[in-house]
Amino acid sequence: MDRILVTGGAGFIGSNFVHHLVARTDARITVLDKMTYAASREALAALPAERVSLVVGDIADAAVVDPLVAAADAVVHFAAESHNDNSLQDPSPFVQTNLVGTFTLLEAVRRHDVRYHHISTDEVYGDLELDDPARFTEATAYNPSSPYSSTKAGSDLLVRAWVRSFGVRATISNCSNNYGPWQHIEKFIPRQITNLIDGVRPRLYGAGLNVRDWIHAEDHSSAVLRILERGAIGETYLIGADGERNNLETVRLILRLMGHDENDFDHVNDRAGHDLRYAIDSTKLRTELGWAPSFQDFEAGMAATIDWYRANEAWWRPKKDAVEAAYLAKGQ
Ligand code: NAD
Ligand code: DAU
Repeated sequence: MDRILVTGGAGFIGSNFVHHLVARTDARITVLDKMTYAASREALAALPAERVSLVVGDIADAAVVDPLVAAADAVVHFAAESHNDNSLQDPSPFVQTNLVGTFTLLEAVRRHDVRYHHISTDEVYGDLELDDPARFTEATAYNPSSPYSSTKAGSDLLVRAWVRSFGVRATISNCSNNYGPWQHIEKFIPRQITNLIDGVRPRLYGAGLNVRDWIHAEDHSSAVLRILERGAIGETYLIGADGERNNLETVRLILRLMGHDENDFDHVNDRAGHDLRYAIDSTKLRTELGWAPSFQDFEAGMAATIDWYRANEAWWRPKKDAVEAAYLAKGQ
């Protein structure tokens, strides 16, 4: 695979994956990104121009997508509207990008017979009870809760249908919650870190007992590359690093690492339809493809992430006021 098209490659995880490809392969990479509010040119700025080029465009625009796909050996599709809270305010861009955008890419890879990897989320499976010994596996039934997760679930189903009906050479991965550098400050962990830098108390939705299964973005990237290189066509692989923690524990860890009392946070309005718990069983990926995560120590990963946000205030500062104003208007 000499030429790889990465959609959403200017976003949080997509840009991490582009860095990973540059470091681990000889591929030339084209990023197709609409450069929404969530994108960042800075995340790609350090990469060599002879290896990575950026095309600003919409994955739902067939005229843009078709020639880029035709020129690629593989497409890795990260582009999405990604934030649950935004999907509750206005689902429309989620339907357009996550469903129509994926459909547009699938039609192009079908036309040009190009290998396709689809990035998805564990949220397609809905949520688990706190005391349920089960975790999500590739056999778990789809049961999404939010406009965001339902459009991601729909996009996965499109991929499965295009594999079966048209012989598209595709794989799918469903990953748990990512953390690390370059994550937009609308998301839970960077929101609390940047609040504390600003002297503002962290904000926990509801009681804070909701569990998320954290994985470092770098481990997500290594798993995706492994699936791209060795995954079996038509298969789905769950990606997770056994990182279950409730939000209360995570806020307390951030407070402690940033030198504050562990109780210096506020409870705020809960998210509508808030999923209780996600948990991934990644046995298939580990046993069939020999993948393992490198970031096993959540506390060390969090400390490095805090350092990164302290050192990169110039990147997130211009976004902070608008993000907080939107949350405060909802009592969050
Ligand atoms: P992000 O919001 O940080 O980045 C999304 C990127 O997609 C942005 O650069 C944006 O400009 C681009 N984009 C949006 N609409 C587009 C369009 N119509 N055409 C072209 N580009 C467009 O998201 P992220 O957190 O990096 O998530 C990336 C992918 O990983 C998504 O598919 C998401 O569902 C999936 N995922 C995310 C997580 C997580 O914890 N963040 C976990 C599992 C799966
Ligand atoms: O599970 C994978 C998913 O993880 C991805 O598919 C999504 O793209 C990604 O955004 C993430 O979804 P979540 O909704 O779990 O992430 P978020 O960072 O928005 O919230 C994490 C948890 O923290 C969730 O239980 C809500 C809670 N929360 C969030 C914010 C922003 C708070 O308690 N306070 C907050 O201020």
